[in-house]
Amino acid sequence: MIRSARCGGIELGAGESITPQRHLYDELVHVVAGHGFTTIWNDRGDRTTFEWSDGALFAIPLNVHYQHHNASRVDPARLVATNNAPVYMNLIHNLDFIFGTDFDFTDRFTGDTQFDGDTVDQGFRLWETNFIADVNQVPLIKRPTRGGSNRQLELVNSSIGAHLSEFPVGTYKKAHRHGAGTHIVITSGEGYSLMWREGERIETVEWKRGAFVAPPDRWFHQHFNTMPQFSE
Ligand SMILES: [Fe+2]
Repeated sequence: MIRSARCGGIELGAGESITPQRHLYDELVHVVAGHGFTTIWNDRGDRTTFEWSDGALFAIPLNVHYQHHNASRVDPARLVATNNAPVYMNLIHNLDFIFGTDFDFTDRFTGDTQFDGDTVDQGFRLWETNFIADVNQVPLIKRPTRGGSNRQLELVNSSIGAHLSEFPVGTYKKAHRHGAGTHIVITSGEGYSLMWREGERIETVEWKRGAFVAPPDRWFHQHFNTMPQFSE
């Protein structure tokens, strides 16, 4: 099986920055704690810097050079990122190409690309945007057929989809299943998920704010809110 997505965390110590990098896979970044800024640039000279703090969600435009910086001289900053690197690793199998290709995807990033939180409502509960300042403040749309409310997000024309979901206390999202690669970050609330492979024992996974859940490939899963707020 070819894995479709990978997730990892970064902690930047006080005043620290990551080494600048670029890659031929898409990546979404969620800020779990702290505040800082990210600088993005390409080979033709386009460049921008935007600030973030806990709760933010943004995407790294494909193959730009980028560098995250922790703006605090006291506190660490924590980021969690999900990407589709496994697809490229399995298909291309060449790290020099994946991390060292000189090509500017100007359909993803130019000097006009702003990370200011502006959104375009594409209908069908889909927002097109480059930057979400706080995922817990995004207005969601009721989705009675699935339970709760949600909002689909498309960030910098990324090939990775994302959505936000919320379920009132005492309610749940209807059970469903899909392929591997979905990474769930609990941004508020408390509850649990039931997860099971068809015909096998049901597993219970408890979670609260800051938890990370990844339903396995084709396992059914169902999320229950036992507190006033739940966001996926
Ligand atoms: Fe799911």
